[in-house]
Amino acid sequence: MTIAITKDLLNKYDVAGPRYTSYPTAVDWTNTINQKNYFTALNNFKTKNKPLSLYLHIPFCESPCYFCACNRVIRTRKAKYGDEFITNLFKEIDLVINKIGKNKTVSLLHWGGGTPNFLEDYQIAKIHTKIAENFNLSNDAEISIEVDSRTLDNSRIGFLKQLGYNRLSMGVQDFDKQVQLAVNRVQSYEEIALLTQDFREHGIKSLNYDLIYGLPYQSIKSFKQTVKEVIKLRPDRIALYNFAYLPKHQPFQKKINPKDLPSADIRVKIFLQARDMLLDNGYDAIAMDHFALKSDEMAKSFASGSLYRNFMGYTLRYTDDFIGFGPSAIGYVGNTFVQNTKLLKNYQIKLNLNTLPVERGLVLSDDDLIRQWVINALMCQFTINKAEFKSMFNVEFNFYFAREQTHIVECQKQGLLDFNDNTMTISEIGKLFIRNICMGFDAYLQKRSPEVKFSNTI
Ligand SMILES: C[S@@+](CC[C@H](N)C(=O)[O-])C[C@H]1O[C@@H](n2cnc3c(N)ncnc32)[C@H](O)[C@@H]1O
Ligand code: SF4
Repeated sequence: MTIAITKDLLNKYDVAGPRYTSYPTAVDWTNTINQKNYFTALNNFKTKNKPLSLYLHIPFCESPCYFCACNRVIRTRKAKYGDEFITNLFKEIDLVINKIGKNKTVSLLHWGGGTPNFLEDYQIAKIHTKIAENFNLSNDAEISIEVDSRTLDNSRIGFLKQLGYNRLSMGVQDFDKQVQLAVNRVQSYEEIALLTQDFREHGIKSLNYDLIYGLPYQSIKSFKQTVKEVIKLRPDRIALYNFAYLPKHQPFQKKINPKDLPSADIRVKIFLQARDMLLDNGYDAIAMDHFALKSDEMAKSFASGSLYRNFMGYTLRYTDDFIGFGPSAIGYVGNTFVQNTKLLKNYQIKLNLNTLPVERGLVLSDDDLIRQWVINALMCQFTINKAEFKSMFNVEFNFYFAREQTHIVECQKQGLLDFNDNTMTISEIGKLFIRNICMGFDAYLQKRSPEVKFSNTI
């Protein structure tokens, strides 16, 4: 369905706002959380027998993509950096295992970064073995890794497949040369096409491409060509991210001239055009900014209402708890968020002292848990079932969110959602403004310092 967005809606909603990869968002966590709180959370966790998720953050990249907002350090690709890092990573794993014991079942293992394939194959194997020795990777575990095409080839893909990696995610971003040069991320269509063929040959179950809209020099016409080329290669999944432009916080983004960025109006048109092209070519739109081939598990999971979201993105494997290893890695254990220090140097210092490098976090209150459930349901299913809400929290939705009624009615008037006695459901147009809709349920919004800056929602 083709969606038309009015200028009024754009003017009202093109504001800075969270992406809600978590609620409460990471900026609302405090530095009062440290190793002690994490140990308390891990102690409670000891009693549970349910599977958990693991995240490994590999913080290295060979060269900086100017758009990048990920936590990474730029290093030449020398094995010594990886070796040093692995020593500390193993200390961190050992400290956690001392608390929770060996052989907890893991149903989701994800490597992110930075660039996990910055590491040499032997280093990847060493880390994988350490995980497999300390955790019980379930037979149907989703084992995924983010890869940069520029440090990948056929044999490395075969190696990952052999280790058991069944989902690979590759940053493609945009195929246009002018855009690629402006963001210092040059990779040709031919290279990506060849690697895609290699993935298929090795029988990788699911391949994801990351694309970004809103980059410098992108136009409706140029991105149409990128999407055409992507459709030719048919990745199973596509993440189509809105460019998060925060030059105050991301020094390399200062190399991007704001004058070269497409306007909000053009950005929306670029997104909607890509969406229409993907829907016309066998993809389903999944939640906020993802697409999946109809045959892919993610499309089926979204259709059946069983899709979840965590820091690693949308996921099919829900676990109550997840543990993060590596600088900036986030964990969520027993309703407590913890985040490691972002700086590699501080990460090393802490682990040399045999201390977990936890720096920030939050113990969630009852109100946080209720709003977390609502925001997750909106982000993943685009609907709230009021009876389900009542059975979860033993309170009526309308009563609990009496103060939010003005926001709900306003959104309804603008055609962003439908609100009745049983459900609150986001409309097709509303899906584009999902971050703004969620902001109405965010209890921290008013309390945040004006210094805290998010990227624009549109
Ligand atoms: C850790 S990187 C992917 C792995 C690998 N390093 C690569 O670049 O191929 C994760 C993804 O985040 C997305 N990303 C990074 N910075 C972003 C930003 N400022 N705005 C939107 N998306 C961004 C990119 O699409 C990128 O592929
Ligand atoms: S997009 Fe990937 S390769 Fe580029 S700087 Fe970010 S993490 Fe590194």
